[in-house]
Amino acid sequence: MSTELLTETAVLPHLTTRWLGRAYYHLHTVDSTNDLLKQMVSAGHAHFPPAGTLVLAEFQRQGRGRLGRQWQAPPGTSLLFSLLLRPNWPPRRAGWLTMAASLAAMRAITAVCPVPAAIKWPNDVMVQHEGEWRKAGGLLLEGEFDADGRYAVAIMGIGLNVNIPAHQLPEAATPPTSLLLASGQPVSRLALLLALLAELETLLDAAEAGRSPQAEWQANLMMLGQPVQVSWPENGRTLTGIAAATDEWGQLLVTDSGGHTHVIAAADVTLRQPVDFSPESE
Ligand code: BTN
Repeated sequence: MSTELLTETAVLPHLTTRWLGRAYYHLHTVDSTNDLLKQMVSAGHAHFPPAGTLVLAEFQRQGRGRLGRQWQAPPGTSLLFSLLLRPNWPPRRAGWLTMAASLAAMRAITAVCPVPAAIKWPNDVMVQHEGEWRKAGGLLLEGEFDADGRYAVAIMGIGLNVNIPAHQLPEAATPPTSLLLASGQPVSRLALLLALLAELETLLDAAEAGRSPQAEWQANLMMLGQPVQVSWPENGRTLTGIAAATDEWGQLLVTDSGGHTHVIAAADVTLRQPVDFSPESE
């Protein structure tokens, strides 16, 4: 299996984007790429580091996931990186960023690797592994708002399990896999990174022009129309109902047995009963 490092010299000559990833920093080991990029932003000023800056690490000592979880991957096996965006958007549009990122990851996986991919609300990247959907990646979006309440700085952390062998898969709340295990063959991290950045730049440019990624993102969501359990690990609350739809900000609308619709901004969502996701089933 190729363990080519994703250094500046390996990546930059092949990058097809205009602005995303053009300021590129490669590290062998870091605590968390999100934390490092945040430190770079606090040590910088309004225009430095520039929008599109990318920090990628071969290994994270303290990788972080959503809902206070850890994100672990053995050295050189995965894509672990953070992007700096300066959207200057109203705060509600933050959901567009994570929709764009999960969609870009899904499109990139489909382009470089022969496995069906989908999105589990809100932003888990799922692939088919031996007939079931398993998590191959996730996003951690962290932001800062300016004095006018606009979304000034967004740190978009992306983790994709690319070539992790079965015995090194991390423990995770959602059953994990890697693209290697799902497809049965090693996947080029470079090709995946380049495809993801190209897709994401297209989606972000469209969002900047006012075009939401929501329609395509929702069309690729698992679980819509199905019975789900929503849980909030921080306070132990749960809710059951049907995952009916999403709104334009990416919130999940869950209808309970009494016909009441709950708007979910952040939580864990699981299917309440096993469902056959094979392409033939409705
Ligand atoms: C999740 O699904 O819980 C989100 C996982 C996000 C992991 C990435 S890896 C690169 C970046 N740095 C971090 O510490 N976390 C994100």
